[in-house]
Amino acid sequence: MADTQDPHGSVPAQVLVRLTSIVEPLAVASLFEHPAPIEVELGSGDGGFLVRYARLHPERNFLGVERLLGRIRKLERKAPRLGLTNLRGLRLEAAYLLRHLLPPASIHAVHVYFPDPWPKKRHRARRLVNPDFPGLAARVLVPDGHVFLRTDDADYFAQMQDVFGASSVFSPADTPGELADVLTDFEAEFAAQGRPTRRAAWRLAPSNAQTSITGPPP
Ligand SMILES: C[S@@+](CC[C@H](N)C(=O)[O-])C[C@H]1O[C@@H](n2cnc3c(N)ncnc32)[C@H](O)[C@@H]1O
Repeated sequence: MADTQDPHGSVPAQVLVRLTSIVEPLAVASLFEHPAPIEVELGSGDGGFLVRYARLHPERNFLGVERLLGRIRKLERKAPRLGLTNLRGLRLEAAYLLRHLLPPASIHAVHVYFPDPWPKKRHRARRLVNPDFPGLAARVLVPDGHVFLRTDDADYFAQMQDVFGASSVFSPADTPGELADVLTDFEAEFAAQGRPTRRAAWRLAPSNAQTSITGPPP
């Protein structure tokens, strides 16, 4: 329990989200102590990027989504040690969260960094950023919301650009320098091996185009 104490001795809210329903929309804003724009990282791994970025942005709230328990537990340990109250973690399949649980227009940014590349052709369908993904992201993003992508895999990067390029509601955007400067854990390892990061950002249409977004059926 010592890990969950903050430096001031009070007991912070739980870092890991306990879902009370897997069919009702998740009241995502209520997971946090203070109302603020919410950003989500899908496949957050050990949480290295999120703890660093959440520290830089106390005026935003962050949710890390990771399917491996051991990895999300690391985020659970790191956040209270750093006194971060704007960071939560959820152990779940990312696409399920986008498709079924997050309320429409509830998220300001979706970060997807070094998603599993599934290099074998017969496994490509398992990729998270697939033709359905822009529709799923558009459903949960606020107008003008962003998707930020990074990978070291050239083929996967081409697929990411293809699926977002084919979307009528996203347009290319820039990754802010202060965001690009915060490396993920995998990125730091790849950089040490001389493997470059491929990076892209896409912005959801700002207007009432939201009404014309048709994601895949539930
Ligand atoms: C290669 S690691 C990258 C971790 C982190 N983003 C980084 O850059 O350091 C990919 C992570 O995504 C998780 N993951 C892969 N597919 C997922 C999915 N569909 N839903 C949730 N997590 C997923 C994996 O378990 C793994 O921890």
